[in-house]
Parts: sequence; C-alpha cells; structure tokens
Amino acid sequence: MIVLGIETSCDETSAALLVDGKAVSNVISSQLIHSSYGGVVPELASRAHLRLIIQVVEEALAGGGMKKGQIDGIAATRGPGLVGALLVGLSFGKALAFGLGIPFTAVNHMEGHLYSVFLEEEVPAYPFLALVVSGGHTMLVHVEAPFRQTVLGETRDDAAGEAFDKVAKMLGLGYPGGPAIDRLAREGDPAAIRFPRAFLEEGTLDFSFSGIKTSVLYYLRREGLGESGAARTLLDGKQMADICASFQAAIVDVLVAKATGAALRLGVTDIALVGGVSANSSLRRTLRDEAGKCGCRVFTPRSEYCMDNGAMIAYVGWMRLVRGLTSVYETPAAAYLELSGIAS
Ligand code: KG4
Ligand code: ZN
Repeated sequence: MIVLGIETSCDETSAALLVDGKAVSNVISSQLIHSSYGGVVPELASRAHLRLIIQVVEEALAGGGMKKGQIDGIAATRGPGLVGALLVGLSFGKALAFGLGIPFTAVNHMEGHLYSVFLEEEVPAYPFLALVVSGGHTMLVHVEAPFRQTVLGETRDDAAGEAFDKVAKMLGLGYPGGPAIDRLAREGDPAAIRFPRAFLEEGTLDFSFSGIKTSVLYYLRREGLGESGAARTLLDGKQMADICASFQAAIVDVLVAKATGAALRLGVTDIALVGGVSANSSLRRTLRDEAGKCGCRVFTPRSEYCMDNGAMIAYVGWMRLVRGLTSVYETPAAAYLELSGIAS
C-alpha cells in the first residue's frame, strides 16, 4: 500500500511517501521566517504553508519515484496544532484524496510522534514506554498495542521544547532554540550553575519546566544581563556555554529520571524517545546510559523523523488504513486533541 502523508501543524511543511510502512521519501520545508520573532507567528505559518504545499507534495512524489495516480491513500494531520496551519494540509489532503477517488484518513500529530519510532529498522516491542518531547508537549505514554496508549504523565506548564525555545530567546539565540542550546552546551560545564529540578510530588509522572525557565531569567537579571538577548553580546563563549549546559542538564535530569522510573514501575524494557527534543544529544546519551543500567533499551528515530515530518503522519495513516479506519471529509482541524485511548 502506498500512502502519502502531509504535515502542516506548526512551522514545518512536510510530505512523505510510504510503501508498505517504509518511507521512500520525506520532504521537510522548515519556515525560517519565524526566527527573528523568537517563536512561531501563526498567521505567517499558515501563509507559508499555502505557498509551499504543492511544491512539497510534488517533491515527495518525485523523491519516491511515483505519480499521484499510484497513491492508495492519503493521511494528513488534523491536530493538535495551530488551526490555520493545520487547515492547509488537511484541506489539501482531503481535496487530493477526493480528486483521486482514494481513501483519506486524518491523523493525530502526537500519534505521529509516538509511532515515528517504527520508521526505523530496529523497533521496540509492545508493550513499551514512550517519552514524547516536542515544542508543544512533554509526556510519558504506556503503549500496550497499536493505538492502545495511555498517557501516564505530562507537563503542567511549559513543554520541554518550549523551555529550550524561551531560554534561547532570553539568551538571544533565535528560534528554534533547542538545536542552538544543544550545540553550545557541548563546550560548557553542566555543573557550573545549579538550576532547580522540578520532580513535583512523590510518585507523579507529570512534569513542570516553567520554574527552570524562570530561574534562568533570575540568574540573567542578577548578572545584569536582562532577558532581551543581552547575554549573547555581553558574555564570552565559555559563560554562554556554561549557562546552556547547566540549563540543559536540569531538563535532561528530570526527563531521564521520570522515564526510567516509569519503565521500572510498568515493568517494560523498551523505551521510545520521540518528538523534536529527542534530537538533543545529551538527552539521547543520558537516557541510553541510565536506561541501560536498569536493563532497558532505548529506541530513537533519526532526526528527520524526530522533528515534525510527513513520514510519521504517513506511518500512522498506513496503520489506520490497513485497519479500515478512514475519516469523513467533515473532519475538522483541532487545536487540542487527546492522545489516550483507542483509534476512532
Ligand atoms: O516535534 P517538533 O518538531 O514540533 C512540535 O511538535 O512541537 O519539536 C520542536 C521542538 C522545538 O521546541 C525545538 O527547539 C526542539 O524541538 N528541538 C530541540 C532540539 N532540536 C529541536 N530541543 C533540544 N535539543 C535539540 N537538539
Ligand atoms: Zn511535533
């Protein structure tokens, strides 16, 4: 079965082709227009998706060496995300499926991240634990079988990626901040500054990252560096690297402790690390090391499948279509969407 997947929930316009569950192309156009704003500007994102969508889909078809008449089904993200941005890919997917007379299925973006780990050769065995870390979400999910997933804990305030982006903005590093902090942190000392780790009350698998972000802000104020990016011009490379490494360590410590604790509690041995923040080199290394000590294995997709991408949407689309799960054309875009439950 050949499935075209379309993703436009935030600031990546992406399309991919999947043949029997294997990605044969994955075209991602990241919008650079948001960089100077320190975050995604929804209206600009929607307009950019409109400009890019046809070209991105055509490139995905050409990359897979296919003509559109060969596609068996189309999947597009319906949420969660920016409604105006979602509408572009969702409407495009529905219209193309209607025009070609083939099945259409709407996909939950977070299921896309969750099952993106199956785009690789080495895959976790069910039941497994997933740590889903992106710009909008941070969750621990128990995945018992395909589409049988339960959210065990999630962030009560900022998502991990959001904390990276907000701290990067304070430091004058632009958007998205995660990759810049990751890069700078490699030269820094993670023990230079002790930022707080919020584990919350005993036994909870929820997260909170707004405190870490605020303590970076107070640290910068105490040092006379304000919050409008002054650090970038006033600090030397080593000081910037130390702040980045110390902040990153605070985030990574909490994510890794909660994920390994949850795996032990559930008695699962396989952990999937997915979502944009899973590209973080320190998170990958630390989770692998700590999980290894508990006898667990960690599975992480390559970085083009960690960030927002059409391949993960095509994959969940394929999982749905082979089960006969299609969506009506009236399916709306949704800013918020639950992840727990079974396929509908
Ligand atoms: O999954 P994703 O592409 O989009 C959402 O669904 O939100 O995740 C984007 C997030 C951004 O916050 C970005 O800063 C973060 O992932 N990110 C990283 C890294 N690469 C991307 N965070 C930390 N380290 C990275 N290397
Ligand atoms: Zn995402």
